Amino acid sequence: MPNTQDPTPMKPFIAGNWKMHKTAGEAVAFAQALAGELNAAQDRDIVIAPPFTALHAVSRSLAGSGIKVAAQNLHWEREGAYTGEISAAMAVEAGCSYAIIGHSERRKLFGEKDEEINRKLKSVLASGLGPIFCIGENLEDRDAGRTLAVLGSQLRKGLDSLTRRDIMETVIAYEPVWAIGTGRAATPGQAQEAHAFIRQTLGKMFDAPPAGIPVIYGGSVSPGNIRSLMEQPDINGVLVGGASLDVDSFVRIVNFDK
Ligand code: PGA
Repeated sequence: MPNTQDPTPMKPFIAGNWKMHKTAGEAVAFAQALAGELNAAQDRDIVIAPPFTALHAVSRSLAGSGIKVAAQNLHWEREGAYTGEISAAMAVEAGCSYAIIGHSERRKLFGEKDEEINRKLKSVLASGLGPIFCIGENLEDRDAGRTLAVLGSQLRKGLDSLTRRDIMETVIAYEPVWAIGTGRAATPGQAQEAHAFIRQTLGKMFDAPPAGIPVIYGGSVSPGNIRSLMEQPDINGVLVGGASLDVDSFVRIVNFDK
């Protein structure tokens, strides 16, 4: 189902997920170089997600640049005896505007389940941050023809009892697990099929076609493949890992159509 409900095209939403890369010093130097290159890029949303230790310094160094900062993960409680965790309120104070929730590395390496992800999404939304909610099938699911069933289940469990207003603040990232860090991106056709399904499912869940919700693609996005992905009607942006760690490569991705 193409995104025919919205006659005005959405601003491209381009986010870089740095994972466990860059010290605070390296991150600030990178952010300043990026801000210099991307001055006044008002026609797209640009977000970077440094490690926790760099959030505060990076948000300060990006003040006035229009580039926003995201946390890569958060706990659902505001505070408490949760050694090693960070809350949404802390991320807000550190200058974040978004939080990535449910990334496949969190699900796979740290055992995050849909129910925890749902709690995290609610906490992020209550704190005023915008969640970037990641879903995606693994290779076994795809080979068995279960891709859309898996996406449907992750959406229903992850977004359980969210309101229509909540969903309008949310960015959905479709990240097929087999495409992350492998150099093997989904084809534009595979990604479009998943994105159209996600949009259709959101429409059913929230009782209207939510054409205004960005659905972005992640998994081996590069300066070489971004354009063909962004040409798809239901792909509104990208979540970039490896290729966001280099200023030149990330700038080329942000400026994919210029
Ligand atoms: P990648 O990572 O671009 O390195 O494949 C994407 C992600 O994990 O968000």
